[in-house]
Amino acid sequence: MKNINLETNELEYIFSVIGLSNKNGKNYRQRLKKNEQIYNYLLHLNKAVDRLSRKREIVLVDCACGKSYLAFIANYYFTKIARRKIKFVCIDYDEYVITASRAAAEKLKLNNMEFICDDIFNVKFQVKPDIVYSLHACDTATDMTIAKGILEDAKYIMTVSCCQHTVRNKIKKHPLTSITKHGVYKERLVDMIADSMRTLLLESKGYKVNVFEYVSSSKTPKNVMVRAVKGGGLANKNSIKDYKKLHNIFNVQPKLGDYIRENL
Ligand SMILES: C[S@@+](CC[C@H](N)C(=O)[O-])C[C@H]1O[C@@H](n2cnc3c(N)ncnc32)[C@H](O)[C@@H]1O
Repeated sequence: MKNINLETNELEYIFSVIGLSNKNGKNYRQRLKKNEQIYNYLLHLNKAVDRLSRKREIVLVDCACGKSYLAFIANYYFTKIARRKIKFVCIDYDEYVITASRAAAEKLKLNNMEFICDDIFNVKFQVKPDIVYSLHACDTATDMTIAKGILEDAKYIMTVSCCQHTVRNKIKKHPLTSITKHGVYKERLVDMIADSMRTLLLESKGYKVNVFEYVSSSKTPKNVMVRAVKGGGLANKNSIKDYKKLHNIFNVQPKLGDYIRENL
């Protein structure tokens, strides 16, 4: 990826408009970790966009966008530096963040970004999305992101999950209670179970999945990316069998199963 030059006045201005820096373009200290997350996420969005046709507009959907920091910075990179035809659809059910995002886009005179205030699952797309992604979408919003991507047949789906309340609250009787009696281990195991089960469902729908740390854990403890590409390799024929095995051991399943009707 070409370097994003942090010194450009234009990017400094974007930072100040979206609220990641003050009026003089100085990044707020408390936002620096967020910036690292954004740049590292952008690297992976860029790898995906690079593999998509330059001849047409590429549609990216940012689920649970919050104030759309990632979408604004990515939009700057793709349109001004990579010179791609790009459209962003940003979704969040919180009216405050959507109003703030719309105001920022207006101030920046951006007309290729749409902001939708709704539950991710309710949104119907006019154009098929190429990439559906989320960063720290709370709990089942990560499941909704993946479900939307699968149901819309997106080429790429990327998520970095956040809290996993739904799975954590359900996981009670299982053979590893001597491990999960320690809160910190329970937290980590729940993260692994929820994301692993999601990857198996993605594989069952024809996606090749990679799971990796997309940014250092010093920037966020929730730093694991699930990256899925449709038709990106040999299908895992055992995915549903493996999914059922995990379900039998832990007696939980992420909401993704309901959303794509792959219920046990
Ligand atoms: C932790 S914030 C992350 C925001 C942004 N992606 C970021 O990384 O800065 C989670 C966001 O998810 C939104 N959210 C949670 N569940 C949602 C749902 N089902 N539909 C739409 N938005 C949702 C919340 O309103 C909140 O803005």
